Amino acid sequence: MQMPLSQPQSQPPSPPAEPDNSYEALFASSILRVNQSLERFLDKQAYDPSPQANGLWEAMRYGTLDGGKRIRSVLAMEVCKACGGQENTVLPTACAIELIHAQSLIHDDLPCMDNDDMRRGKPSVHKAFGESTAVLAGDALIALAFGIISKETPLDGSVSPQRLLSVIGDFSDVTSIRGLVNGQFVDILYEGQPFNQEILEYIHVYKTGALFRFSMGAGAKLAGAPDFVVDRFVTLGQKLGLAFQIVDDLLDIASSSEALGKTAGKDQLQEKATYPAFFGVEASRKQVDQLSQEAFTLLEETAGMPSGYDSKALKTLVGFIANRIH
Ligand code: IPE
Ligand code: IPE
Ligand code: MG
Ligand code: MG
Ligand code: MG
Repeated sequence: MQMPLSQPQSQPPSPPAEPDNSYEALFASSILRVNQSLERFLDKQAYDPSPQANGLWEAMRYGTLDGGKRIRSVLAMEVCKACGGQENTVLPTACAIELIHAQSLIHDDLPCMDNDDMRRGKPSVHKAFGESTAVLAGDALIALAFGIISKETPLDGSVSPQRLLSVIGDFSDVTSIRGLVNGQFVDILYEGQPFNQEILEYIHVYKTGALFRFSMGAGAKLAGAPDFVVDRFVTLGQKLGLAFQIVDDLLDIASSSEALGKTAGKDQLQEKATYPAFFGVEASRKQVDQLSQEAFTLLEETAGMPSGYDSKALKTLVGFIANRIH
């Protein structure tokens, strides 16, 4: 039988496909570049081809690859591009941010921390590989992250060695005791304890805000932006990091483990110091809206910005952060 060469005339034409305006679609190329580079940086063969430490590498890869929104690395890349920088310059730092973020999640899930069995829709690293391997995988990821920024950033003229050293110095601050770790320490310290607004802000601004601050500040620094522009993006990162964590607290209440890929409803059980626990759901939501409004205003200030400054992608990201559902 002969196949018809064209659709019968009577068939109505199919409607044009709706454009996919999701975060994953709009930032697909940055996400892909980060994922491909992470795959390369976590290639065991490049470091230690002997089989003894395979389990460690598997745990590092399991906790970092295949999952995660990559929002911090995408922010770093988009700030760098918005300020006229090259993607290749910021890519190693963007990957290092994801390595530290993955490490923070691996350790955050440990039984001695938040004791969470599920992460990114899979068993947490300590569930899949055991506690000691999860601790060691996190340790290795931290140090690897510093090596990647210092060894892989191309020093081809667009970034000076001094600038790169200053980025590495900032990275040390936010990944240690002027950032993530002191934030996590106070988060755990106040579990089940009375807390006030100052403590709550401290926890959020450090445990989550610090890496957002760094992501945006480093993006600007690696684009060669002047100090006042870097400072502006650090301020913006602080606001977005806080908004991101308030939304995380809200989703913990309103969403499901299935949608989040991690255990929902844990904050109340563990009596965590969260925004909704302190201010209530509605007031917390209002704070997110206020923070994203402030972020928009900062992005709209163009005076003195590098020529060609374009904040469109960053504005879209602010919207995704404020309204995300997972
Ligand atoms: C989870 O961060 C931890 C918080 C700081 C709230 P993400 O929601 O960015 O986690 P992944 O990377 O997408 O899994
Ligand atoms: C953020 O807080 C954790 C880190 C900074 C690592 P949470 O403990 O609320 O994060 P989730 O909800 O476990 O992802
Ligand atoms: Mg935690
Ligand atoms: Mg947790
Ligand atoms: Mg949470």
